[in-house]
Amino acid sequence: MKKYLVIGNPIDHSLSPLIHNFWIKKYKVIESVYEKKNIEKNELRIIVDKLRNGEINGVNITVPYKKEIIPFLDAVKGDAELTQSVNTLCKDNNKVYGYNTDTKGFKNSLVNELIDYKDKNVFIIGAGGVSSSILEAFVNTANKIYITNRTKKKADELKKLGDISLSLLGREKKTIEVVNWGEMPEVCDIVINTTSVGLNKNENLNLNFEHYKNNKNALFYDLIYNPKETNFLNEAKLRGNKTMNGKMMFIWQAQIAFQMWTGVAAEIDEELIKLLD
Ligand code: ATR
Repeated sequence: MKKYLVIGNPIDHSLSPLIHNFWIKKYKVIESVYEKKNIEKNELRIIVDKLRNGEINGVNITVPYKKEIIPFLDAVKGDAELTQSVNTLCKDNNKVYGYNTDTKGFKNSLVNELIDYKDKNVFIIGAGGVSSSILEAFVNTANKIYITNRTKKKADELKKLGDISLSLLGREKKTIEVVNWGEMPEVCDIVINTTSVGLNKNENLNLNFEHYKNNKNALFYDLIYNPKETNFLNEAKLRGNKTMNGKMMFIWQAQIAFQMWTGVAAEIDEELIKLLD
């Protein structure tokens, strides 16, 4: 039996098993099952060992362990190294490697909607666990990236991480700029909420986006997909902006991990999309 896991704390809300088991069934991936497991921090090493010795065949990592898992791995690769955020583990030659499929998942969600994310001005709200994955999606193509966070120090740290990517790409550090919480940069093409504000339906960021009124080209993207429409998106819709929630990014990050483990390039069909409603 091949066993796949998503680990986090809390984990009850995770919809990853729903997606992966849907594909396991659809593509008749033999004798495989995907489960969720609530774990404590001191169990991270045990999970990695189980992957190394073949008791588990693949792991997804979610909040709050995407960074904390790193010391237990043999290496982090690609976007995981640049973001310092790992959401997928794979074994190769007895070594356990950490990958990040959030960045590519986010890009795929845009490309799939025919949204051009290159050469844009981007405004990232938040500097929490997932924010580095979003920043990484833009560092090599955006014209300008603004970051704001209630706690400014975390936005400064996020910029530092982004600056490493920029220097590897030979781009200027001024591409990323931190703005104070409550201050608005120039009107941007894409505004992304990466904070947890909105997970509870009545929560509000209390940022003023009135200068985006009737701007049909601006895209407001909320990584939250449950609730489907946060106040951030609802207000954007009322202003006449384009909106998108985090559902497709979530499905894409799973699709990439599934392919890494099974070799199957799963199709994202309507049945699956409806399953997550
Ligand atoms: P996680 O790792 O789960 O993303 P996190 O690192 O605490 O959790 O990130 C949560 C994000 O939501 C942070 O950007 C946080 O801002 P702070 O760094 O200032 O805590 C943001 N956030 C949470 N509640 C908020 C609120 N009421 N107003 C503004 N930002 C908030």
